[in-house]
Amino acid sequence: MEETVWQQLHDEAVAAMQRAYAPYSRFPVGAAAITTDGRIISGCNVENAAYGATLCAECSLISQLFATGGGKLLAFACVNGRGEALAPCGRCRQLLSEHADDRLILAMPAGHMSIDEVLPGRFGASNIHDVVDSQSVINTTE
Ligand code: THU
Repeated sequence: MEETVWQQLHDEAVAAMQRAYAPYSRFPVGAAAITTDGRIISGCNVENAAYGATLCAECSLISQLFATGGGKLLAFACVNGRGEALAPCGRCRQLLSEHADDRLILAMPAGHMSIDEVLPGRFGASNIHDVVDSQSVINTTE
């Protein structure tokens, strides 16, 4: 990914961060990504008086991924209220993993990293399908 594209992603993440609804934490977050077909998508955190109902910026980004046509993520950036690179929380790493292209690179505070570096030994659909497939074979032969 060219440096100009990373700059564009950063700018989109900052623009999304400026639209965040974060009156409780006062910690606005913006996220942006490029999809496999070249779309740029973004999202911001949306908090709630019932704190646990808060949506992270990445949740909003993944919703936009599907609302605009689906696909996989090729590059991802997330920023805090200062426009600095922010590490996605654990739950959001799992959200990103589900929709990661094999080539996905994330702009982390420590630099660019792959999804396997960001979420080592990650859980995915194959972990379910292995077990569910074998169980359905057992069930059909009973
Ligand atoms: N937050 C995100 O939007 N994404 C993350 O990956 C980390 C945390 C939000 C949730 C909450 O609105 C605020 O940051 C403080 O935790």
